[in-house]
Amino acid sequence: MGNNRGGLSIHDCAPTRRSAVADLTQDLRELYRDHATGAVTTRTSLLDGFAHDPEVNQYIYFDVRSNTLKDKRSPNSNSTLNTLGYSPIPLPEYLQIIERIVTSVKRGAKKKPFVVSVTGSADEVVRCHGLISDCSHRIDHPLLMEINLSCPNIPRKPPPAYSSNSLQEYLTALQRSKVLDTSTSTTLIGIKTPPYTYFDQYQTLIDALLSTTGADRTCPVDFITATNTLGGCLVLAESNEVLAPSSEPGSYVPAVASASGTGLGGVGGAVIHALALGNVRTIRSMLDQHHELQHIEIIGVGGVSDYAGYARFRSIGAAAVGIGTALGKEGIMVFQKILNELETLSMFAKLGINEGRNDTGPTEKQQKSLDVIEEKQDDVEEYDRAQDSGIE
Ligand SMILES: Cc1cc2nc3c(=O)[nH]c(=O)nc-3n(C[C@H](O)[C@H](O)[C@H](O)COP(=O)(O)O)c2cc1C
Repeated sequence: MGNNRGGLSIHDCAPTRRSAVADLTQDLRELYRDHATGAVTTRTSLLDGFAHDPEVNQYIYFDVRSNTLKDKRSPNSNSTLNTLGYSPIPLPEYLQIIERIVTSVKRGAKKKPFVVSVTGSADEVVRCHGLISDCSHRIDHPLLMEINLSCPNIPRKPPPAYSSNSLQEYLTALQRSKVLDTSTSTTLIGIKTPPYTYFDQYQTLIDALLSTTGADRTCPVDFITATNTLGGCLVLAESNEVLAPSSEPGSYVPAVASASGTGLGGVGGAVIHALALGNVRTIRSMLDQHHELQHIEIIGVGGVSDYAGYARFRSIGAAAVGIGTALGKEGIMVFQKILNELETLSMFAKLGINEGRNDTGPTEKQQKSLDVIEEKQDDVEEYDRAQDSGIE
């Protein structure tokens, strides 16, 4: 978790299963090999795959300022609305794909972790942990398990991380399996939370985590990814944008279809950046109040598309930062763009071209940013060296 770069593959579902697997392998391989990503998160998978239905599982880009539908290549497509469920590719197939990708890396190269996102019932998630741990041992590669407890798009299955009972059920099952696990499983466990909007929701999370500690028991959660998309949102399109051009002007229809039939889905991108920052800030400070929970790291996700967004998450305690919407829009180059911005800022900082310049040397605040920047660059250079010498 020391690594502070992250990428989430958002993968369109291609028409045939075979090409879907081939495209997914290619996407994950590119993300894995990109020198600017620090880890790769998969789409959420189930033990048996999700029955993806393109008629109701969709996503679109929109502009949060004008609330209008946008092509993702438009400069103003800064947010997404999706009614997707989970990946149609089952977990065992994801693990095979990961195995193929990491075994093409030569010995000695730095091992970039995969964060394998899964979901299902508490018992199924425990089985997922077993499969991921076995795979991690077999291929001698760090795999983390992230349990998605926050998808807003499954009818009659509200995100478990909003409910005290559901959270406890998952955490208890995980702890039981960790205690019973006699192997040397080091597969870290994380949970992905939905955006919380008031104090009691955060307290429910913290209470559930605390309930797994004490009397020689340690919390089974190693990291929290905050946040998933915010559910219950509606983007309206002028009816002639999505229906026949002859539709009556000035009438609106939902921009996407959904399993519920309402067109309501989860939003990501610029529209949730402030909320995601608020979540990371609050969860970090509440974890820090309990020594039993201080070890839990946070991956910040929500509305990051540039260095400033990345830096905002890091400044409030995120150990790593993930990108979804901007990756779908800009492609893999978004990570290099952020590194370039960092390098430019670093150069400016070194030249003293900075707000509040002090001729007697950098201010305390400036020195702190220089230290962070230098640490990050060392990390990147070390990673590049390892890759140059290691990848076929
Ligand atoms: C098209 C799309 C697919 C997504 N699929 C998943 C998923 O499978 N599992 C998951 O935990 N989050 C999923 N998310 C949520 C993102 O991982 C992320 O938490 C959220 O979009 C906020 O980040 P962003 O603002 O960078 O998009 C998806 C988001 C989008 C837009």
